Amino acid sequence: MNVKLSFTPVSKNPVDLLAVVLDEGTTLHEIDDAAIAGHVERAAAALRDKTLKREYFATLPDGAKAKAVVVYWSPQLKSWNLWENVKTFTARALRLARDYRLPRVGLALNTKDAAPLVGKAVEGAILGTYVFDKYKQEKDDFFAKEASLTILAHPDHQADAEARKARYAWVAENVNRARTLINEPGNVVTPESIADEAGEIAREVELEVEVLDPAALRAKGYSGILRVGAGSAHPGRLVILRHVPKKASKDTIALVGKGITFDSGGISLKPGDKMWEMKGDMAGASAVLYAMRALGRIRPDLKVVGILCCAENLPDANAQRPGDIFTAKNGKSVMVDNTDAEGRLVLLDGLARAGEEGATHVVDIATLTGAVVRALGPSVAGVMGTDRDLVRRIVRSGENHGEPFWELPLVEEYKESLKTPYADLNNIAAGGLAGAITAGLFLREFVPNGAAWAHLDIAGPMFKDKEWKYFDAGAIGFGVKTLVDLCERFRDPLA
Ligand code: BES
Ligand code: MN
Ligand code: ZN
Repeated sequence: MNVKLSFTPVSKNPVDLLAVVLDEGTTLHEIDDAAIAGHVERAAAALRDKTLKREYFATLPDGAKAKAVVVYWSPQLKSWNLWENVKTFTARALRLARDYRLPRVGLALNTKDAAPLVGKAVEGAILGTYVFDKYKQEKDDFFAKEASLTILAHPDHQADAEARKARYAWVAENVNRARTLINEPGNVVTPESIADEAGEIAREVELEVEVLDPAALRAKGYSGILRVGAGSAHPGRLVILRHVPKKASKDTIALVGKGITFDSGGISLKPGDKMWEMKGDMAGASAVLYAMRALGRIRPDLKVVGILCCAENLPDANAQRPGDIFTAKNGKSVMVDNTDAEGRLVLLDGLARAGEEGATHVVDIATLTGAVVRALGPSVAGVMGTDRDLVRRIVRSGENHGEPFWELPLVEEYKESLKTPYADLNNIAAGGLAGAITAGLFLREFVPNGAAWAHLDIAGPMFKDKEWKYFDAGAIGFGVKTLVDLCERFRDPLA
């Protein structure tokens, strides 16, 4: 998507479609063309009186500065704030432009009050025009080849607008890359292909990289990835990416992602209905990988280690069986009661590695449980943790970027349910209640001593089956923006 900024008035920027967003509290547009201004005023009245519900669209006579105008009323998307609404409306305007073949799109954000929203519009444009059509014969390359978006911004805020555009475009491109990795099927994305991609990213944005293959995992005593991947022709990998800041950093944050490239359930096989969705069971690793790519250019003043726990969970003669017992790197033995509770088993290797990396803060992110989807639905992720401030920081970073997280309690007494006569821990909880929480309690047993820890269960928002805000159906790269913001603002005090 071609996104440009302009600091000249509306009358100097002839477009095919001009988009205007109306908000109750702030005026975001300044229009120096009488014909267009007339439409915006009519739209404002109709939208305010609710005689128009969704949007106002009008075409203008030949020779006008815009061929068509579309006006959106921000309060109509009640559950979101103005920032999110600007993204959604930018995306909607671009889709409207596609449907009516109006290639030159303008968006008026040219008041002083609108200045902070320029980055959000850039994000809405890039996320809103993403398409995953590589396997389709029929493609529409309107967004890629024909369309352009000119954001009209206030001339007093040029440097600020350019900086916001660059930052938001870069992060949004990484969200889109994360989406593609999740949308790609399990016959394309494998543990080794993720490791290769990590290697390329490390070269591109200057991160340190290390890949542990099965021989290295065995030699170093990592066991979870090997056990889970035992039934696959694509053996597992532990991938480490490091951003080391120039100035010595007293804190090290480790981002640990679940990277199950396909989760059939293993011998505890899942039912066939919607099993294909488990190609996205590496969404946590994808979020970490592309957050690291973004951070490689942003270069925050904080050491960040990305750890991807990659394996494929398939049934096979070599696969682990229910009842198998293995010992994790921290010495705790685990009985694999259910091979479909595999995410926590690969993550324990990543948590061990985070400790070896000297992490003071550990954040894991995983499509871990169906239970969190039942609890919070498809739009909200669960967060649990041992450190109040870290959890609050994650919730705040999510709020900054339209990724909602809701805290679930790590209920101490539920730990009982992870007991088994045969090993230190069972990998599933007896009784089957509070599955998201008991998964969190299981993980907590493997958190390195002394580290602040938070666990993000993103099973709900991994995929969307229909349009959601500025996203089309499919993977939305949930978590990339939160992780980037968390690291960027790590030194900011909590309000
Ligand atoms: N990857 C799944 C969780 C999942 C479910 C993600 C739905 C996205 C959408 C995970 O590995 C899994 O199978 N969890 C089991 C755990 C159970 C066996 C304790 C589950 O949630 O059913
Ligand atoms: Mn599973
Ligand atoms: Zn899984």
